[in-house]
This record gives sequence, C-alpha cells and structure tokens, in this order.
Amino acid sequence: MYDFQPDPGLDTAERHRQLFEAADALTSGEPDPVANMANVAALIWEFVPDLNWAGFYRMGDNADGAPELVLGPFVGRPACIRIPVGAGVCGAAAQSGETQLVEDVHAFPGHIACDAASRSEVVVPVVRKGEVIAVIDLDSASPSRFTEGDARGLEKLARLLSDRI
Ligand code: SME
Repeated sequence: MYDFQPDPGLDTAERHRQLFEAADALTSGEPDPVANMANVAALIWEFVPDLNWAGFYRMGDNADGAPELVLGPFVGRPACIRIPVGAGVCGAAAQSGETQLVEDVHAFPGHIACDAASRSEVVVPVVRKGEVIAVIDLDSASPSRFTEGDARGLEKLARLLSDRI
C-alpha cells in the first residue's frame, strides 16, 4: 500500500519537494506512460490542496492528422476530450511551450470551461527533445489559487516525466 498523505501544515515548496520525490519513486523504472500519468495525477491531488481537477492532456492527432491535445489520466470531473493546439489555457501552453498561470479563468481569452466551478488554473508543458508531448493541468475553484512556487514545482515535475510518460 502506498501512503503519501502530506502533513496539512507543509508550505508550498515542501509540498512540491515531497510530490517530486513520490512521483520519482512511483514512476522510476515503470515504462507504461498511462500508469505513470495516472499515479502522478493522483499524487498531485494528494499534495496540492484546493484543486477541483488535476491531470494530463497528451499531444495526439485530429482526424486530419493535425496535432491536438487529447485527454489523459486525471482526477476530477469528466472533462473535454480534445483541445486544439492554441485553444484555451491548455492549448496556449501546448502552442507556446510555456507555463500558463491564470489567476482568473474568466478573463482568459478562449478559456474552455470543463467544470463551471473552476476559477484559476495552471498548465505546464511536458517537453521531450524540444517538442511538447503533453501538458499537466491543475484547476481550482478558488480565484488566484496558484503561485509562481506552484509553477516552478510543476515544471520540475514535468522535466522528470518527460521520458516517463
Ligand atoms: N480549462 C482548460 C480545459 C481543460 S479543463 O480545465 C480540465 C483550458 O482552457 O484549456
């Protein structure tokens, strides 16, 4: 049995340090990308408080063969399955290759509302050999929930996962 319950008093940096350590331990040596994304989504849910969605979109193809984000393992309510590159917060992260830290999703042009309760969001690209292969998406029902500390912690996690998902 895995027991990764973080102490509720931990600060953001320590939460991300423990999240990284647990993700490294759980994904090390496991070649199955779906298993690794599923466990990391569950770990994010445990270690990052005040979320209503946490998970992955992987880079796939649409019916015309153009790149498109496709829903991967997550924790939360059922979500949009396909997101065109450039659309919404996830599509912006996939297109730019840069983290999107959104304090108010209602003010983000083209934001895709999968859960009407979502108020703020952070999306971090996972890059392998210079190409975005997936994004990690965290949503919260609290406005301005995510900090630069969350963004840097998730970017470090994304680097760990780049050859594990
Ligand atoms: N809000 C995201 C879509 C994904 S869901 O939040 C799970 C976006 O605008 O890209």
